[in-house]
Amino acid sequence: MPEIKVRPNGPLLVSSDTVTVVDKDGKSYATTGPTIALCRCGASANKPFCDGAHNAAGFTDDATAPE
Ligand code: FES
Repeated sequence: MPEIKVRPNGPLLVSSDTVTVVDKDGKSYATTGPTIALCRCGASANKPFCDGAHNAAGFTDDATAPE
C-alpha cells in the first residue's frame, strides 16, 4: 500500500513500489527509487518534485493528522 508522508516544512514523500507520476497530458515522469518527494511549497524549479528549495523559501508547515 502506498504511503504519503508529510515532511515538516518540506515535501510530501510518496513511498510505493508502483507509484507513477503523470503530467496533465498523461505522460509519465521518469522516477527512480521506491520513494519520491513531491513539492508542496511551490518554490521548486523541478515541479512536481521537490528540489530542496523549500529551505531557501522559508516554507513552514508542520501539519499533523487530527487525533
Ligand atoms: S517542498 Fe521542497 S521545493 Fe517545495
